[in-house]
Amino acid sequence: MNKNNKNTQSAALTPPLEGQGEVVILAIESSCDDTSAAVLCDGILLSNVTASQAVHEAYGGVVPELASRAHEQNIVPVVDQALKRAGVEREQLSAIAFTRGPGLMGSLLVGVSFAKGMARSLGIPLIDVNHLQGHVLAHFIKEAEDDHDQPSFPFLCLLVSGGNSQIIKVNSYKDMEILGQTIDDAAGEAIDKCSKVMGLGYPGGPVIDRLARQGNADAFKFAKPNIKGYDYSFSGLKTSFLYSLRDWLKDDPDFIEHHKEDLAASLEKTIVDILMKKLRQAVKDTGIRQVAVAGGVSANNGLRNAFHDHARRYGWKIFIPKFSYTTDNAAMIGITGYFKYLDKDFCSIDAPAFARMEK
Ligand code: KG4
Repeated sequence: MNKNNKNTQSAALTPPLEGQGEVVILAIESSCDDTSAAVLCDGILLSNVTASQAVHEAYGGVVPELASRAHEQNIVPVVDQALKRAGVEREQLSAIAFTRGPGLMGSLLVGVSFAKGMARSLGIPLIDVNHLQGHVLAHFIKEAEDDHDQPSFPFLCLLVSGGNSQIIKVNSYKDMEILGQTIDDAAGEAIDKCSKVMGLGYPGGPVIDRLARQGNADAFKFAKPNIKGYDYSFSGLKTSFLYSLRDWLKDDPDFIEHHKEDLAASLEKTIVDILMKKLRQAVKDTGIRQVAVAGGVSANNGLRNAFHDHARRYGWKIFIPKFSYTTDNAAMIGITGYFKYLDKDFCSIDAPAFARMEK
């Protein structure tokens, strides 16, 4: 095991169970269009290998059938690479953690079946992990014992991805309370759809982010929702963006080309404002000033800057994940699996994958 590598120190995140020795976990993530495998030893990440699927770019979104086929092709080499890079033999594994849901059923089934087959052949326990819980616990991924500081419980987490926009009160690694969530589109979904309307391709998030850095965020105004409590809504913004664009294009057929930076910056600002307003309210009402952000949209520079700004203005202690742990990855499934391993919280071989939250 490569425990002497710079990133793979030997000290444990939490002491292993007495008499248990090293806890070595292989984690597998396949909920959408990334096939990822990671290996952790005593809570320290040894490797994290991800194969992304370029096949969907031509379709402007993830095509489920193509995603599951690509997972089938990728899973063996990805797991193999993760074990090799970690310097771990199959026989050294203590357990296999896998994403059980939510996600695309066909994609999930590849990872779930692979994890079950491998665990059964090695005679080791299986640990089922909720993908969303994994995103939140990505803040506990350690590449070395003296790694960045981590939130203490309770903390608030803004989880923003292509499928979710939630404010979560995290009481412990297994006790998470959803204070609010989107009632229609997710923030990432809204960004992707607006980007598609602008002809910028899929996924739109990184492109919008890049263009927004060169644009004027106050150039255009789009509708903001008026929803009670901590819930979000992004479908009205999407419609407002679409209708505004349609009107502007009547006067100038090259409107998008002429204004794409300002459009991206104004769209990003509107989404960040919507997200931060509810989060500020949640911080105020709960009195919890440790605030984390997670999920694919947490890679967004405008959102990251807003977090830094709130830290300065309101004294929040903020937690922003490394870019590599914002989008789907097996390292977050591994750290969640590690916590569950310490609790001996294993699952049976017949635990089915689930596409949606209600099991
Ligand atoms: O968490 P994730 O990888 O997948 C799930 O949805 O589960 O999130 C993907 C989402 C996509 O909507 C993508 O456009 C968005 O995250 N995204 C970004 C950025 N990078 C990815 N959105 C804004 N700015 C980015 N830099």
